[in-house]
Amino acid sequence: MKYLVTGSAGLIGNQLVHDLEQSGEIVYSCYNDAKPVYGIPIKLNLLNLEDVSKIFKKIQPDIIIHSAALTDVEQCEVDPQLANSINVKSTEIIAKEVEKISSYLMYISTDYVFDGKKGLYAETDLTHPLNNYGKTKLSGEKIIEDNSSKWSIIRTSTPFGTHSFKKTFPVWIYENLKNNNKINILEDQFTSPTYVPNLSKMILEIIERKLEGFFHVSGSTKISRFEFAKIIATKLNLDLSLLNPVKISTMPWKATRPIDSSLDVSKINRILKTKSCTIKQSIDDYTHELADSFSL
Ligand SMILES: NC(=O)c1ccc[n+]([C@@H]2O[C@H](COP(=O)([O-])OP(=O)(O)OC[C@H]3O[C@@H](n4cnc5c(N)ncnc54)[C@H](OP(=O)(O)O)[C@@H]3O)[C@@H](O)[C@H]2O)c1
Repeated sequence: MKYLVTGSAGLIGNQLVHDLEQSGEIVYSCYNDAKPVYGIPIKLNLLNLEDVSKIFKKIQPDIIIHSAALTDVEQCEVDPQLANSINVKSTEIIAKEVEKISSYLMYISTDYVFDGKKGLYAETDLTHPLNNYGKTKLSGEKIIEDNSSKWSIIRTSTPFGTHSFKKTFPVWIYENLKNNNKINILEDQFTSPTYVPNLSKMILEIIERKLEGFFHVSGSTKISRFEFAKIIATKLNLDLSLLNPVKISTMPWKATRPIDSSLDVSKINRILKTKSCTIKQSIDDYTHELADSFSL
């Protein structure tokens, strides 16, 4: 099988390409700025729509994982045109090119397609994004549904894991508490933190079995940022008193965030052999990785 992964140097893409290579697959790793560590690197700026078509015609991949996006929620709010070009227009071209070669397309989407009023969202729940990032990702989803024959849409939440230059929430907590910095953490925003290696395994099983439709693929625990930070600090023997709980209403953000965008993972836990990890399992596994990276 020939794979093509967009956003292959990103937090999620990097793990996916790593795991695919480990399974002996041929993977074309599309990137924009940062060169990917794994796979066969292919420079592809998704703003150059003609290049997207050329590369798909040339490579003719069997399976495409479209993971690239403008993921900076604030940037999406202040530059809606750029967000639309990267998250919507390029997705349309990709969906149409994939259809021409009758391949399977997986689109990585987000919990931010929901408004956060309900929490523990199932695949069948109504979407209602609050910010432009969520709106563009939802437009991407609709493009896939309208243009593709063989597709899956994965919605995930607060991914974390190790990466050579991307700093996820636990590393930020670790670095600040280690340096005795007091940090403000939201106590009233809830998500389903997702350990990227667990996410990757579940995604690859969905692809291997060519499952189609919507899948909520995240960690199985709904938790506030503050409680998440406390678990990390406790596990790493750091000073919990440096964590200062604050309310989401105090944040000077331009883009509104959903209060509770946690995901219900019962569908994947029913269907897949690989199960979604609890926060405890994820942090246990992750701290082993952190211990290697930081010589704890
Ligand atoms: N991070 C989250 O909190 C989160 C939560 C739920 C869902 N998701 C979704 O999961 C997917 C992967 O996210 P992630 O966390 O891995 O994000 P990430 O680390 O920010 O990676 C995004 C990737 O998109 C690429 N990209 C951005 N603009 C591009 C362009 N013009 N042309 C080509 N590539 C471009 C980036 O490459 P360069 O850096 O080289 O430009 C980067 O490798 C995204 O679709 C995102 O919407 C993310």
